[in-house]
Amino acid sequence: MGARLIIVSNRVAAPDPKGTPSAGGMAVAVKAALKNRRGLWFGWSGQVSEEPDPLPRVIDAKRVTYVLVDLSKNDVQEYYNGLANSVLWPILHYRGDMQEYSRADASGYLRVNRMFADKLSPLVAEEDVIWVHDYHLMLLGHELRARGHRNRIGFFLHTPCAPPDILQTLPLHEQIFGSLVHYDLVGFQTANDRDNFARYLVARGASPTRGGAYEFEGRQVKLGVFGVSIETKTYMRLARNAGRSAMVALVKESLSDNRLVLGVDRLDYTKGIPDRIKAFERFLEDCPEWRGKVTFLQITPKSRSDVKEYGEIESEVTGLIGRVNGRFGDAAWTPIRYVNRSYSRTVLAGFYRAADVALVTPLRDGMNLVAKEYLAAQDPENPGVLVLSEFAGAARELEQALIVNPHETDAVASAIKHALEMPLDERRDRHAPMLSHLQVNDITKWAEDYLSALADGRQTRRLLDSL
Ligand code: F6P
Repeated sequence: MGARLIIVSNRVAAPDPKGTPSAGGMAVAVKAALKNRRGLWFGWSGQVSEEPDPLPRVIDAKRVTYVLVDLSKNDVQEYYNGLANSVLWPILHYRGDMQEYSRADASGYLRVNRMFADKLSPLVAEEDVIWVHDYHLMLLGHELRARGHRNRIGFFLHTPCAPPDILQTLPLHEQIFGSLVHYDLVGFQTANDRDNFARYLVARGASPTRGGAYEFEGRQVKLGVFGVSIETKTYMRLARNAGRSAMVALVKESLSDNRLVLGVDRLDYTKGIPDRIKAFERFLEDCPEWRGKVTFLQITPKSRSDVKEYGEIESEVTGLIGRVNGRFGDAAWTPIRYVNRSYSRTVLAGFYRAADVALVTPLRDGMNLVAKEYLAAQDPENPGVLVLSEFAGAARELEQALIVNPHETDAVASAIKHALEMPLDERRDRHAPMLSHLQVNDITKWAEDYLSALADGRQTRRLLDSL
């Protein structure tokens, strides 16, 4: 039958009206990586049910089979809202101080990781290659090993990885972060993330081997850097044709001759949205000549609303936007338009292409695919300008962007002015090398690089050919 690629992630972009919508970068990237491969994608159905069906739901689509499990209300509370999003998420984003740890949530996390392993285990054939994604499922490799699976099993962390001192603030860090050594390969977005994790392992007694792996308690794990990317070619085409979308046309018309500054982020405290609004406010204070001539559109789908910190960030953002609009707006001009909904890929591509400036200013981000999508969507003859936080993984690759420290309000305000006033030649000179980089380093290359590193030398060719 040949090797199959088994992808495991919490959220699955299944072709099912009931499947959870995949606003986030992880599901979009995995979907693209599976394109043209034979495989199985295993994860949460997005459904909450008090008596979850003991058998997973199976959806057969062309070459990919989706296998989906339901979670109970308690599972969602303890595993997803609890340990994953109220503890691991802040810690991995360098905010150990924000974690809300409880033993109940930790045992919910262990329970759901075990349940995933129990339900996946009977589906795994000897030659399958298993690729687990993200912080929800760190223990899965260990659990599969405990059920006797000797397959190549890899893990990719889509978020940043904080330095060891912060990772160690997790009460069960040995059990959770330490269990990553049960994977054959752990992939990170940037060299900084990989080095942080390597230092964590060494601090726990691991030793580097000659082949670049780490040896720990009888296991060998390779660490690697694989910056996630986008379907560059497809995205460029989408953006070229997006002008036909009625919604894009409507927005352009509503702007009259105003220039467009765009932000697109899930509503999350790591994205630096309040700091960005304050920077836009500072820009309007410092540059009265731009008042009435520029519109900032912030598109912010809500996420993880059951987690306390997400409710707090929502009130903060709406309060700040009200303040700026009240202070600078007039009856004919609203400085900031704010929408809590998501748009289709095509419409979003059209907004990106129409935007003169994109503000991608997270306080900390694994990669940030909005930055890459924005660049791919530009007209190369007349491109817009990317203002990019130095704390997004993307800043390690997109050096010609206007790189800013999102905490420095004045610097972001001046970058907005610089971007709006940048001459065409400079815009082209900055955009061209970044676009070429994305044309070479697209999502297909990301998946291929990762999978060849995961398969050992002998297996590689056979694996890549047969998947
Ligand atoms: O790595 C984090 C991540 O998976 C992103 O790729 C994605 O944007 C986000 O989380 C989705 O979060 P959720 O599944 O909680 O909506």
